[in-house]
Amino acid sequence: MKEQLEKIRQEALDALDHAGDAAELDALRVRFLGKKGELTGVLKMMGKLSAEERPVMGQAANNVRAAIEEKLEQTRLALKEKALQARLAAETIDVTIPGEPVKLGHRHPMNKALDEAKEIFISMGFQILEGPEVELADYNFTRLNIAENHPSRDRSDTFYITDDESVLLRTQTSPMQIRAMEQIKQPPIRVLAPGRVYRKDEVDATHSPMFHQIEGLVVDKGITMADLKGTLEVLIKAMYGQESVVRFRPHHFPFTEPSCEVDVQCFNCKGAGCPMCKGEGWIELLGAGMVHPDVLANCGIDPDIYSGFAFGIGLERMAMRRFKINDLRMIFENDIRFLSQF
Ligand code: DAH
Repeated sequence: MKEQLEKIRQEALDALDHAGDAAELDALRVRFLGKKGELTGVLKMMGKLSAEERPVMGQAANNVRAAIEEKLEQTRLALKEKALQARLAAETIDVTIPGEPVKLGHRHPMNKALDEAKEIFISMGFQILEGPEVELADYNFTRLNIAENHPSRDRSDTFYITDDESVLLRTQTSPMQIRAMEQIKQPPIRVLAPGRVYRKDEVDATHSPMFHQIEGLVVDKGITMADLKGTLEVLIKAMYGQESVVRFRPHHFPFTEPSCEVDVQCFNCKGAGCPMCKGEGWIELLGAGMVHPDVLANCGIDPDIYSGFAFGIGLERMAMRRFKINDLRMIFENDIRFLSQF
């Protein structure tokens, strides 16, 4: 029996030396120490021993159990450490490998053009004002001196929100002139109001039912057409280069008197006429004029004391000229191949 115990001890310690993982370890524990294990098998034969032999064998069996248990624990710890080392090795990262470049987005050409314009006007003391795209017809038309029968009020041109045509999608940023005067009340007023406007236009290379304008308004004592010309020249030369040639051409708008349209000489042909300026030699940039006295009076500002000028710029047009884009649709299509060029 003593030999049997010794044999079990030897086999157990040997086998444990070769255990490769926790599962094998557990199998060995069952094999040697389990209820039906080898050691238990030997202990069951204790009954056949004499009273003198029994305690001696009991002691020996306990020693073997203790030895196997200790070896089991040692092996368990060793395997655990080995598993940890293997995991650490597998999870090692090479911090010297260059990372995947993160693709940075950038500003849309429209925002670039708008930001440039804002900078220029902020440097001249203008404040930026924003207002609603769903507007009252009263602000969009009536208080801007636009007659009840004016064609721009037609349902075929304007998106009305209400059947009584009192609420609409603004067709221009000019209602912001009214809102600016109402809000600021006391001149001097120097405001730039960019935003979306809507008209019932079919989409083509130069039209879209939604586009952007930048409205400008200055009201103070002694404002003249010279101030208007000087201000717009600063804008145009900053936008298109100091060598730009600017032309003021008489026009009519109901809310300004006198009114003008402002052109820049075609940078492509220097005025000779080419496809870019459709043979004109000039490119139309914006509408402007001296604020009509009735419009000032409509906003509670005394036209005998104050005068002002206003202008409205098509932002898409400005961005298209600025970045030499020849089709308006590209601005709204969000094609990354187009956008990433700016
Ligand atoms: N609102 C005009 C338009 O959409 C543009 C315009 C012309 C704005 C003259 C003005 C202005 O402020 O003075 O066609």
